[in-house]
Amino acid sequence: MGCKNTIFLILVATLITKEALATQHVVGGSQGWDQSTDFDSWTSGQTFKVGDQLVFKYSSLHSVVELSNESTYKKCDISTPINTLSTGKDVVKLDKPGTRYFTCGTLGHCGQGMKVKITVVKGNGSSSPVSSLSPSSSPSTSSPTSTNAASTSQCFASLLLFVTLSFATMIYFF
Ligand SMILES: *[C@@H]1O[C@H](CO)[C@@H](O)[C@H](O)[C@H]1NC(C)=O
Ligand SMILES: *[C@@H]1O[C@H](CO)[C@@H](O)[C@H](O)[C@H]1NC(C)=O
Repeated sequence: MGCKNTIFLILVATLITKEALATQHVVGGSQGWDQSTDFDSWTSGQTFKVGDQLVFKYSSLHSVVELSNESTYKKCDISTPINTLSTGKDVVKLDKPGTRYFTCGTLGHCGQGMKVKITVVKGNGSSSPVSSLSPSSSPSTSSPTSTNAASTSQCFASLLLFVTLSFATMIYFF
């Protein structure tokens, strides 16, 4: 197997792995879904992509109410919710790009700041590089004679660089 093919296979495997691992965001981090949590600072450290999930963890004092728009969110108007959850460990799938609004259904909690606005971005940008790469890598199969020490070590070096970069990327993302 040629160097280019090996690198290409690793690249594809990395992309597939990344695609399959949808991120679960525990809302509010370790403090969870509670009045004392600073949700603005929590969301500022997160990137929400299509396919990711939100997990609301909370005690029986709370619930999760999804609001329809910015206006009802700002006014803490929970009279027309688009969804209400109350299991204490609710999973919400972010299935499309856009903004979603959540608050607590308990009287007064929204006014105390227990609300969060989630902006979901397109997450599948990684699927397009695969199709654009495949045509350029296929000609490499037609050159089996060009194996000398120089190209082998060059291949090893680039492979090593690629693996290092992949690890760096994984550490950054997970
Ligand atoms: C927001 O949602 C509420 C309830 O569904 C609706 O009555 C209102 O017209 C909406 N406001 C905007 C600006 O879309
Ligand atoms: C994301 O996926 C959708 C549906 O699978 C597709 O229509 C869209 O073009 C993709 N976007 C990118 C940037 O690949």
